[in-house]
Amino acid sequence: MIESYLKVEHAQPLSGVLEVAGAKNAVLVIMASLLLVDGKSTLRNVPASSDVWLMKLLLEEIGAVVEFDVYNHILTVDTSGIHCWQVNQLIMKKMRASILLAGPLLVRFGKADVAVPGGCVLGARSLDFHINNFKKMGTVVEQDGHFLKLKTVQPSITAAKLILEYPSVGATENLLMAAVGAHGSTTIVNAALEPEVIDLITVLKKMGAAITIQPPATIVVEGGMPLTPIDHTIIPDRLEAGSLLLAAAVTGGSLYLKDMPESMLDLFLYKLKEMGHSISIGDGGVGIHLVATARPQAVSFKTGPFPSFPTDLQAPMMLAQAIAEGSCIIEETVFESRLGHVDQLIKMGANIDIINNMSVKVKGVKELIGGQVQATDIRASCALVLAGLVAHGTTYIAGVHHWKRGYESLDLKLNSLGAHIEIFDECSSISIKKEDFGAVVRNF
Ligand code: EPU
Repeated sequence: MIESYLKVEHAQPLSGVLEVAGAKNAVLVIMASLLLVDGKSTLRNVPASSDVWLMKLLLEEIGAVVEFDVYNHILTVDTSGIHCWQVNQLIMKKMRASILLAGPLLVRFGKADVAVPGGCVLGARSLDFHINNFKKMGTVVEQDGHFLKLKTVQPSITAAKLILEYPSVGATENLLMAAVGAHGSTTIVNAALEPEVIDLITVLKKMGAAITIQPPATIVVEGGMPLTPIDHTIIPDRLEAGSLLLAAAVTGGSLYLKDMPESMLDLFLYKLKEMGHSISIGDGGVGIHLVATARPQAVSFKTGPFPSFPTDLQAPMMLAQAIAEGSCIIEETVFESRLGHVDQLIKMGANIDIINNMSVKVKGVKELIGGQVQATDIRASCALVLAGLVAHGTTYIAGVHHWKRGYESLDLKLNSLGAHIEIFDECSSISIKKEDFGAVVRNF
């Protein structure tokens, strides 16, 4: 038997009303951005996912004082004592988002020593857009194996016109934070405009930065403004919201997410409607109510940068197609290797043909069967939990750390709707402290 695992029982229709947690992918970069100011900032609606604990550790390692009131989801970060531009390489190798410290550290110190980050294995996930554009901003980058040393030629980073070949979320965020500290005007053409990037822009503007977005996807930053600490409430997590809606949909239930804006999930909701599910939206576009159809139809979809279908919902949405009537084609266009869940769903009885490493044909089946499966990334773990909810019998999912990296207590939220999910984990505490560091790194 696998040692750490999620145990998921077949569920009756899941129904209820829930609030969505704060967005993991917004809070990670916003925590990094606090290095741009001196003093104490407050973030609210912060999810206690393990990636947030890792980012807290990274900030503490370089001198920040970070307090996390998990119960109230309030995180305070005092950056007055930041003394170091070298990021802990053991942690960096475990979490790709740690590369987001490079931009703010370059602004603060004119240098940043980082490791090539890890995190979910989703293909090559190169850093060329980050590095090439830092170079355009007057930074010398030396790579020594897995280590990167960045240093500005001038005393500070310089403004520039930057063009992204692809609207990379992480590169846009890193360059935005660097641009805020560069005197003059920086333009980022073909920028990512995901809701999490917009939340970062809101934070940078609260700090005092001058940033405008020009259609279709250009961000202009007038850098060099004095910046001050902020108080900010993180946006709701559209990916947790999507996962919860899918849980209600695949079990034939109903769910109202009271705080979730429709605008962050437009295409996803459109596809759920196309499957036959009923979706209604609350006043002012906030609040999403799903009532599942008894006979969902399979729909084809293709992932892409926002506002296209989110890559982070591809895996759980594939599970929904695997038990729908008819067949469909699913194309992953963002990452070249994000189909780790396919083999595992096939193991549970799904009928999925791999066309190539970025697309599959799914033919709906009447039932899935529980068994032992392995989660390979955060969103794959979600797809397998949803599969466990609809499968006959019990499903055991190894790779609990992926689940915990992405979600705070999503298992408990699902249980509150009627699911039976248990986590058996040797590293069961959600609070990760410095003294737990060895265990944390082992578990990632
Ligand atoms: N890419 C490059 N060069 C670069 C940067 C990216 O080729 O320098 C490629 C990547 O290999 C990938 C594509 O561009 O094929 C998009 O990558 P992007 O940079 O947009 O992704 P990211 O910043 O590494 C963030 C999220 C991911 C989410 C993607 C896409 C965080 C911490 N991570 O990653 O979230 O899937 O944007 O929306 O914000 C997750 O939460 O499970 C997750 C993986």
